[in-house]
Amino acid sequence: MKVTNQSSSRRDFVKKMATGAAVLGSSVPSLLTAQDAATEHLITRTPRIGPNDNINIALIGAGGMGNADTDTALQVPGVKLVAACDLYDGRLADAKRKYGNDLFTTRDYMEILSRKDIDAVIIAVPDHWHKQISVDALTHGKGAYCEKPMVHDISEGYAVIEAQRKSGKTYQVGSQGMSSLGNETAKKLYQEGAIGQLIYAEGFWARNSPTGAWQYAIPTDASPKTVDWDRYIANTTKRAFDPLRFFRWRNYRDYGTGVSGDLFVHLFSSLHFIISSNGPNKVMATGGLRYWKDGREVPDVLLGMFDYPETKAHSAFNLSLRVNFVDGTSGSTYLRMVGTEGAMDVTWDDVTLRKNLTTDPMDTFLSAKADEMDKALGARKRMLPPAEAKYRVEDGYKGAHYDHFSNFFTGVRNNTSVMEDATFGFRAAAPALLCNDSYFGEKTVRWDPEKLKLL
Ligand SMILES: NC(=O)c1ccc[n+]([C@@H]2O[C@H](COP(=O)([O-])OP(=O)(O)OC[C@H]3O[C@@H](n4cnc5c(N)ncnc54)[C@H](O)[C@@H]3O)[C@@H](O)[C@H]2O)c1
Repeated sequence: MKVTNQSSSRRDFVKKMATGAAVLGSSVPSLLTAQDAATEHLITRTPRIGPNDNINIALIGAGGMGNADTDTALQVPGVKLVAACDLYDGRLADAKRKYGNDLFTTRDYMEILSRKDIDAVIIAVPDHWHKQISVDALTHGKGAYCEKPMVHDISEGYAVIEAQRKSGKTYQVGSQGMSSLGNETAKKLYQEGAIGQLIYAEGFWARNSPTGAWQYAIPTDASPKTVDWDRYIANTTKRAFDPLRFFRWRNYRDYGTGVSGDLFVHLFSSLHFIISSNGPNKVMATGGLRYWKDGREVPDVLLGMFDYPETKAHSAFNLSLRVNFVDGTSGSTYLRMVGTEGAMDVTWDDVTLRKNLTTDPMDTFLSAKADEMDKALGARKRMLPPAEAKYRVEDGYKGAHYDHFSNFFTGVRNNTSVMEDATFGFRAAAPALLCNDSYFGEKTVRWDPEKLKLL
């Protein structure tokens, strides 16, 4: 049987594990067929950015993610890197080696923002600088792509929203999964009622390595000469030069936002996008520092629980998120949404939909109870839906990161806003930051996700 995908010009469906597969474009298998094998569907992306209008960009924060962001941004047609800023000389030297000797480099991001030839900046500095550089960039008329979480503290969110509003410039937060085919597919399936009413969701990030747990290498030449320490701590507690606090900033609360700000925030962005939510109204967290006792101030195991109130877009439901940096299962990450009629496991590249109308033949208790019920009601046997449908991206998909930059530059070219703008970014960051408030304050935190206010 031939199955088509959303783009008729594309090759036919490659793989199917059963007959009767449905097409994503034509919706969820709503007519129940007597299959219990899995079905698989391809998800495709139509290019949406033309190579018109060159855009000059600059990178502020030329470390790990700054490099990854720039490499991806430069794949979008018409984008050129003209300048880079960093506080460690080694990173600036690396940037020149990598992107060309004519790259303008500086330790002072204001020198970048005052240049007329720069249209947009990537902000990939530690979290404690996100707010100020975002506000300054927007105020100087630049489009800005700021890494997640948008801010370091709840109190900082309003200034970024206001700066975006006043400037009218495109501002996007860097939770790249937001723009993925996986998320878009999950959103469509959710809207079509594939899992019924959302009751519960859960997400998990597991790691088990020193690098995964933020024990990064310290460059051998790190010193107050090669690092602009004073500028680094200009907006926070004054301390003597400490290379650990500079190169392993995630471990310290003055600069980082812990595992929730680093990782939970991605899951909030994805979930909020998929179900059109503004966020939870109750946040509780617990956890501990179980293993990586290297002087860090943040837990390496964190469990967060979130109550979402009923809105027009979704029912009231509970969310449970976990991060474990000491995970002996060797690592996995997922977002699972569980509804009255099924469940979805969502990644940026695929979505697995399971219908819960099927019963597990191994569960003899449930089978016996179902038989009893059938006898009592004289019920007719039903047609069962496919037990599992898998949607996966076709080969050659450039990925969520590319899509996110593509959306951003489309916004910059047309001077329009994007989905993950300052308000969306704040709504995703807030519950992650409140998780820290709950963990460190040993309390339940209440939040108004509509008005963006602590209660
Ligand atoms: N979207 C993602 O998947 C993802 C992944 C990793 C990191 N991130 C985010 O990217 C940001 C950077 O993380 P990273 O892992 O690249 O850290 P990093 O330490 O590798 O890089 C940060 C760089 O910023 C520089 N810097 C610090 N303060 C500065 C300032 N005031 N002006 C200019 N440069 C400054 C540092 O010298 C360093 O080179 C963080 O906000 C992090 O949460 C996002």
